[in-house]
Amino acid sequence: MIAPSILSADFARLGAEADAVEGADWLHVDVMDNHFVPNLTLGLPVVKSLRAATGIPLDCHLMIDDPDRWAPGYAEAGAANVTFHIEAAADAVQTARAIRAAGALAGLSVKPGTPIEPYLEILTEFDTLLVMTVEPGFGGQAFMAEVLPKVRRAREEIRAGHLRLFVEVDGGIADDTIAAAAEAGADVFVAGSAVYGADDPAKAVEALRALARDAMND
Ligand code: DX5
Ligand code: ZN
Repeated sequence: MIAPSILSADFARLGAEADAVEGADWLHVDVMDNHFVPNLTLGLPVVKSLRAATGIPLDCHLMIDDPDRWAPGYAEAGAANVTFHIEAAADAVQTARAIRAAGALAGLSVKPGTPIEPYLEILTEFDTLLVMTVEPGFGGQAFMAEVLPKVRRAREEIRAGHLRLFVEVDGGIADDTIAAAAEAGADVFVAGSAVYGADDPAKAVEALRALARDAMND
């Protein structure tokens, strides 16, 4: 699945920017609170409006403190997937259950420096593992190939039947990096600048999907 990130879109025209990537599988929505990360973006009111403006399932990536308090509200607002950071959560399992109870998929995200081994057991409570391939906070950063062993490890756990999850990568995904992430075992690819920086965002989505597919089939 390809999930264009609206962080790189024009915030004054979000409905039109969603329409511009009609073939996308998920629309990635970066919620930043200026505490967990140094950047500030948007919150629940914008997600609610976006939900009404597009049929593309919303993939909310919460880079916020106290996700235990706020994450279920994004599921109630109609997000398809709500991902929060393990580094910020007080009770990740409880929060995952609340997200699922509100009707969304639950995602757990790890920053580049956070290992996944300590969380393999609780990942049975999640639908998505989001492996950050840049430090969260800003679009347009360089892809960190050094985190791909975490993607590989998650894929092994899935192949072994221990987990059932989407493995999503976020940060620096573009024509020249998506194959490495796909080969490592990712199956959801967030792309901000590579999609919204392109002359034709819908075409960029298709091109990324083709590259990921080729890499998976190799
Ligand atoms: C970064 C965000 C990403 C961002 C990716 O903290 O989580 O979703 O939009 O942007 P690109 O694809 O430009 O690296
Ligand atoms: Zn993101």
